[in-house]
Amino acid sequence: MSEATVIDSINPHLRGNNAPIHEEITAQNLQVIGKIPDDLEGNFLRIGPNPYFVPDEQRYHLFDGDGMIHGVHISKGGATYRNRFIDSAGLREERQQGKWIYPGLNMFGDYLAKGEMPSSKNTGNTAMVFHNNQLFALMEGGKPYRVSLPDLQTQGEHDFHGTLTHNFTAHPKVDSQSGEMMTFGYGIMPPYLTYSVVGVDGRAGHTTEITLPRPVMMHDCAITARYTIFPDLPLVFDLEKMMAGEGLVGWDPANGCRIGILPRQGSDQNIRWFEIEESFLFHVANAWEEGDEVIVQACRSDRGGIESGDGDVRAQLGQLHEWRFNMTTGEVSSKPLDRGFYCDFPRIKEDLVGYKNRYIYASRFRVDEMPMFDGELKYDNQTGEISVHHFGDHCESGEAVFAPRQNASSEDDGYVICFVYDKQTQTSECQIIDAQRFADAPVARIKIPQRVPHGFHAAWVAD
Ligand SMILES: [Fe+2]
Repeated sequence: MSEATVIDSINPHLRGNNAPIHEEITAQNLQVIGKIPDDLEGNFLRIGPNPYFVPDEQRYHLFDGDGMIHGVHISKGGATYRNRFIDSAGLREERQQGKWIYPGLNMFGDYLAKGEMPSSKNTGNTAMVFHNNQLFALMEGGKPYRVSLPDLQTQGEHDFHGTLTHNFTAHPKVDSQSGEMMTFGYGIMPPYLTYSVVGVDGRAGHTTEITLPRPVMMHDCAITARYTIFPDLPLVFDLEKMMAGEGLVGWDPANGCRIGILPRQGSDQNIRWFEIEESFLFHVANAWEEGDEVIVQACRSDRGGIESGDGDVRAQLGQLHEWRFNMTTGEVSSKPLDRGFYCDFPRIKEDLVGYKNRYIYASRFRVDEMPMFDGELKYDNQTGEISVHHFGDHCESGEAVFAPRQNASSEDDGYVICFVYDKQTQTSECQIIDAQRFADAPVARIKIPQRVPHGFHAAWVAD
């Protein structure tokens, strides 16, 4: 197949609301059910893979698609929707030639088996970060793309004035107090991990390589006021398996599960490693310091994988969890914060990243053969209470973000915003939930005039 326009694909990642769209539109004065709050002004953004060309429908991998941002600009009680591709050099080349050039992840083994290195495209399809008044679209295999707001135009790859020397995670962490951004890149070849601190001057002023025993897919990190935290968990790259067509990564618990805690400006010799139970995590909710302890809260699963349908799917789904690492005694404690719901994409009030937070918002999995999100959870670290927002039996959602009300008076004084897809009508809405009345019907349901395919991560950038 050439262009990816099917809804009824043999591949679940191209089917239903995972099917890509091609048209880039701008739509103003959107229809709203309810009322957009007057004290909310800014951009709700959601990015995800949206392939323009699909080289091999059957072997299409969820991570392959070109990046597309869907944005809802909210201002003065009204809303404007835009969707734009990340205009990468690779996509431009493919569109000019009218065909795919870059193979998908599941095709890499074919090239390696022939002794060739497959060329890869920096799609920028995974997540976004806002730092130094600049929005970046991110994919962990490449450099960030600068993207303008609110018009979502790609302005090219960014190397922080020539100071970035490595790949850039999709999940850097910004310290709202110092203005620094902590980031890292991993590699299949040594160095397996390189860490940088980007200062308020927009330059990676501190870069250091960190020794790992094997190359692992490290998707996220955490920060506290003084430390940066790396999960070295055994989702291991294995070139032999890749060449045998057995997938990009394998779960190898013999490699051990460790959390590394590094002083923010530290180097390899300063990192302290803590062993934890067999675990995987894709996403950290937050971390902070309390006395001698570093506390990390994350969506923990029993094992890691990047393919669905590989055994019991629940073993790979996250549940909210807390580890405490004592920097004086070396002790580790570990406890589930929720034994009921499976969830991922945990988010908090953005300016508390690295500092103690009370509330976590996370997307709830509906557990069946193809896990989908069907609700949103609000966790209260103070009371242990878990609140549920259910979107409806035929609705699927995605990552939600917390947007503070203008002049907010408390941590949860604001809104939780996400896209919701209705399978019956095959239509999408941007829904705004009052975070303090979490289980109630949304205060606003903004009708999006085209289907918004499911994607990865979201962001809120206030005007
Ligand atoms: Fe992620």
